[in-house]
Amino acid sequence: MTSHRFDPNFTDNVVNAMGENVNPRFRQLMASLIRHVHDFARENELTVDEWMAGVQLMNWAGQMSDAKRNEGQLVCDVIGLESLVDEITFKLADEATDAPTATAILGPFFRADTPFRSNGESIVKTAPKEKDGRGELAYMTGQVVDFVTKKPLVGAVVEVWQASTNGLYEQQDPDQEEFNLRGKFKTDENGKYSFYCLRPTPYPVPDDGPAGKLLKMMDRHPFRPAHIHIIATHNGYKPLTTQIFDRKDPYLTNDSVFAVKDSLVVDFVERKGDPQAGLELNYDVRLVPDGLKSNGA
Ligand code: BEZ
Ligand code: FE
Repeated sequence: MTSHRFDPNFTDNVVNAMGENVNPRFRQLMASLIRHVHDFARENELTVDEWMAGVQLMNWAGQMSDAKRNEGQLVCDVIGLESLVDEITFKLADEATDAPTATAILGPFFRADTPFRSNGESIVKTAPKEKDGRGELAYMTGQVVDFVTKKPLVGAVVEVWQASTNGLYEQQDPDQEEFNLRGKFKTDENGKYSFYCLRPTPYPVPDDGPAGKLLKMMDRHPFRPAHIHIIATHNGYKPLTTQIFDRKDPYLTNDSVFAVKDSLVVDFVERKGDPQAGLELNYDVRLVPDGLKSNGA
């Protein structure tokens, strides 16, 4: 029974227009998408002008996107969609008490071609500028372990990236050396990785495009809490994409892209006797073996 005053057969007709040769999962997703979008339009009695404003926003996002900027993803991020999909995909991992490391969104600033560096090397290749705040240096180290056996994983790859103190990732900023504040590290015979980095600082997501326009229209700020991105991989284990967040950050409870999880909040502590860094962070990563359900069951 329909509870609206519009053509009761219209949505079924659109869904049923799909032919026989459709991938079943794609059919399910498209049918559901069409039903939800039509319900949204009917419930809100969407006008042609309002629909066209949405079309223009999508077009603008496409026109702004290139190899260095993924505005479509950013629009999804500010309405929480990437974080929700991450939560759905990795729900079990987040529920267990003795849990593997929780996941978090990839975000639009990942680069697949990041170079390997040696353990103990600094990823700070371009010093932050005085006017942007010179940044505090930190030594980050940790062990990658098997979530079930707790044994160290030798030769795991830990990839990290972070924004500089001016709020920009290197591909957004011509003044930063290529691959500044990025690196891939291989764990040693004890499963350990280590590198020098900046204590991360909060930054606004790019707000000069459609995502920024949406944020302003929703009366929201664009800031993300200070974080470091991590991807950890090892043969025979599920790849982990996550972010770790500085407990002292003022935006921890109101991330503009809704990515913070309690278990990913970390404490930078004072480091003594190292002229290269006044802070340190120990962060272990627990990977789930392939074929094991994420909650270890
Ligand atoms: C990031 O963490 O790099 C990010 C995530 C979502 C939107 C913009 C930036
Ligand atoms: Fe980021």
